Amino acid sequence: MITVKAPGKLYIAGEYAVVESGYPAIIVALDQFVTATISPSETVGSIVSEQYQENSIVWRRQGDEMVFDNRDNPFHYILAAISLTESYAHELGRELGVYHLSINSDLDSADGKKYGLGSSAAVTVATVKALCQYYDLPMTSEKLFKLAAIAHLSVQGNGSLGDIAASVYGGWIAYHSFDRQWLQRHRTQTSLSDLLAMDWPDMQVDLLTPPAALRLIIGWTGSPASTSHLVDKVAMVKAKQRGEYQTFLQASKDCLKRMIAGFHQNDLAAIQTELRVNRQLLQQLGAFSHVTIETPILKRMISLAETAGAAAKTSGAGGGDCGIVLIDKALDTQALLTAWAHDGIEQLNLKVHTVND
Ligand code: PMV
Ligand code: MG
Repeated sequence: MITVKAPGKLYIAGEYAVVESGYPAIIVALDQFVTATISPSETVGSIVSEQYQENSIVWRRQGDEMVFDNRDNPFHYILAAISLTESYAHELGRELGVYHLSINSDLDSADGKKYGLGSSAAVTVATVKALCQYYDLPMTSEKLFKLAAIAHLSVQGNGSLGDIAASVYGGWIAYHSFDRQWLQRHRTQTSLSDLLAMDWPDMQVDLLTPPAALRLIIGWTGSPASTSHLVDKVAMVKAKQRGEYQTFLQASKDCLKRMIAGFHQNDLAAIQTELRVNRQLLQQLGAFSHVTIETPILKRMISLAETAGAAAKTSGAGGGDCGIVLIDKALDTQALLTAWAHDGIEQLNLKVHTVND
């Protein structure tokens, strides 16, 4: 029997801009996991997941066609990960087997609450990792990232794949997204083995060490948001408001560059300053694209954190899910947490997960 796990994630800064090739984001992996277990079978195989099932489908009508939107259903990422890893195993001459795959997740709560901690990325990484072990395929973090990214992209179609990078590399990372058009072109012409061995244009992952004084606090709004739909909405205004969008991209890149320098210099104050700048940039993006990134409850969460002497912003696509707070460990957080609780904001008591710790 094979058991592997992959962590969930939260975005710290650089959201939306990171969707464009080569733009950076800072992301952390969290100590909440998706676990994949494989046991060989003599007869039929099975795919069983307590949390992720195919029990409801979202679709649109396009003329006579019903077009399904599977992007928010993690079950489809499991299927895509299996299909891709099996192609890779086949390419490497492995005999394909029959097995039971079971997926368990603590990224969504037992009563079905969705926190937005990157379940689709973590199920993809866990499934690819488990099957690579099952077929005894040579694996490095980079190869695992690439396989999981191809599988994830085949379902979601948009997005930076930063959540996959966080789940594979763990800890705090600075992630620069790779050129997805380049991948699309090569996908049809190149074998998977060759594709995994190539350098992917613009792709970069650097591990960051946070200053010792830095404490990350996570607040949950209680309402779920759909990243894929929010990213679609922003993509729609991109062509219409080219000037504003390009200005946003450049400003986000400059801000992240300074924030990453803050990590290298162990400078918590500089990191907090740039977190506030990044918040403003996302507010501007929200305003000109008419996408609600910072909902009223997220705004409240952030202003309470600022009152407590911290820097804070939305995490990820926003519109609900979580907000993040960076605060000096020396500061007392009791009043903040009490005020949050009073306003219905729940602290998620999670820690950053470092791979191999
Ligand atoms: O909402 P989350 O935590 O899935 O983060 C989405 C971050 C975006 O930059 C908006 C999209 C992406 O794929 O990077
Ligand atoms: Mg989200």
